[in-house]
Parts: sequence; C-alpha cells; structure tokens
Amino acid sequence: MKHTRRLYITLVALTAFLVFAFFYTGHTDAKKQNAIPKVGILQLMSHPALDQINKGINDTLKKHGYINGKNIKIEFQNAQNDQSNLRTISKQFVQDNVDVAVGIATPSVQSLKNATSKTPIVMGAVTDPEGAGIISNNKKPGGNITGVSDQAPLKAQLNLMKQVIPNLKTIGIIYTSSDASATSQMKKMKKLASQQGIKVEISSINSVNDIQQVASSLIEKSQTIYVPTDNTVASGMKLLTSIAAKQNKAVFPAATTMVKDGGLATVGLSQYELGEKTGEHVVRILQGKERTATTPVTFIKCNTKVRQN
Ligand code: TRP
Repeated sequence: MKHTRRLYITLVALTAFLVFAFFYTGHTDAKKQNAIPKVGILQLMSHPALDQINKGINDTLKKHGYINGKNIKIEFQNAQNDQSNLRTISKQFVQDNVDVAVGIATPSVQSLKNATSKTPIVMGAVTDPEGAGIISNNKKPGGNITGVSDQAPLKAQLNLMKQVIPNLKTIGIIYTSSDASATSQMKKMKKLASQQGIKVEISSINSVNDIQQVASSLIEKSQTIYVPTDNTVASGMKLLTSIAAKQNKAVFPAATTMVKDGGLATVGLSQYELGEKTGEHVVRILQGKERTATTPVTFIKCNTKVRQN
C-alpha cells in the first residue's frame, strides 16, 4: 500500500514537472524568438558572379565562427529571376523575423526594401544604390539598408578595349532595359566613350531569349561588344560570345566571371571579395557593431586584370 502511494506521488510530481517544462520552454520560445540569429539571403538568380558572392558571404560568416544550424540559421533562397518569387521570399523573411536580410543583386534588395523598413538589409553587390532608388546617400544611408556596391572601373575597362583594339571607333553595348545595374553602367560607359570620340551603338533586351535576335546586327555595326554587369546577359554570356565569335569579334564584359564564360578580357573586381565584404557587414550588424543608417556603402577598389586563357 505504502509502496503504491509513493509511486503515485512520484508519478504526479513527474507529470507536473513535464507539464511545467512543456509550457515553460514553449513560453520562452515565443518570447525571445531567435535563440540563435537568423540571416536570410535572397539571391536574384543563379549565374557565376552571384554564386561567387553567395559563397563569399557564407565563408565569411563561417570564418567569424557562425556555423549554420549550430549558432546561426542561414536561410538561402534563389528567386530564379522572377518578380513574384522575389516578393514572396522577401515577405517570408520578414515573417520569419530574420535578424539580417541580405539581397544579392539590385532587384533582390529592392524587393526586400519593399517588404520592410525595420529589418536591417545588407546589399550584396548593388552597382548603383542611389540610381536604383534604394538609398539616397551612399555615405549616409539613413535607414535600414547598407552594404556593398560592385561599381566596375569603367575607365580602366574602356582603356583596355582601346589597347586591344587599335583605332577603336565603335563599341556595341548590349543590356537589359529592366536591369538598373546594367542601365546605370551603360549610360556611364556611353558618356565616357563619347568623350573620347568613340561611337556607342546600343541594343536592349528583355530576356535571354532576345540575345540571339539582337546580338548579330549589333555586332555587325560595332568593332567590339561591351557588356555591363547585367544579370540577364551574365546568364547568356556563352550564347552572346559564340555569336560574336562567328563574326570574329570580341566581347569585353564588366565582370571577371564573365571572362570565364567567353568574354575576352576585363579589369574588374573579385566577385568573391564582394561576398566577403557583404558578409563582414552582416557579422558586424549581428554583433551590434554596425548600424545600417550610419554605415557608408562599401566600394571595392582593388581591381585585377583577367583574360581568356
Ligand atoms: N551589380 C548587379 C546588380 O546590381 C549584380 C551583379 C554583381 C552582377 N556581379 C555581377 C551582374 C556580375 C552581372 C555580372 O544587380
């Protein structure tokens, strides 16, 4: 009899403890939601440059001791170059209460910006943050967005084209009209070239499918082709360079990764380093050492010359 009673008391105590533990942990979970920090990375699409940037971000977080699944949760999403995917994922990040949201390429950051004015957003390679209407002052962002620009050294790139092609008189530029990054660079390159008496022929495309149609006639009219850091052209570089090769003409891209895909040569910045710098912003924000509003946009100065082997 005594024995049964003791067992009974033990069972009651045990049940009470389990009930308490269940509600207690549930309660704290709801309160401080992110026991470990959460970072959302939204990549516009897959092409070698953006993939390198993403790798640089992840490696840098690791280097600073953030191990995914252990002391940080990194939620990676690829929008497959689709506007509605961008919107859905951005909203999801806000709902998931990420501590920092990273946008790789301009449209990703624009979409994150539309989704939140509170969550810190780090730009992973936005060429022209002011021109794209993301922030109004690169030196004093003032809001919830800062990060890294991949503004290419256009003067050096023009000089390179002049060096390789003697008597350069006409450059053809192919770019995507909806791509803010490409549009900004196209305009700047056009201005630079005109100042040096070089004529610029311009063709715009809406999607990769247009390259086939547009490229041939543009290449015919031009001594060489220049492509800005255009996300769509970056994913169609192999096609573009094969069309140019048929006419014996070279394509000079704005980004080093586009040389691997058939571009002749460029002077440009390391896409991986862009990722590293992006990752460093994320780390500093997580550690409370940086506030987006007061942190200037990072511009990378170190350029390397790359050419086809
Ligand atoms: N600058 C592009 C943007 O703002 C993104 C980008 C980074 C990119 N590196 C690139 C595009 C290389 C093409 C090629 O959207």
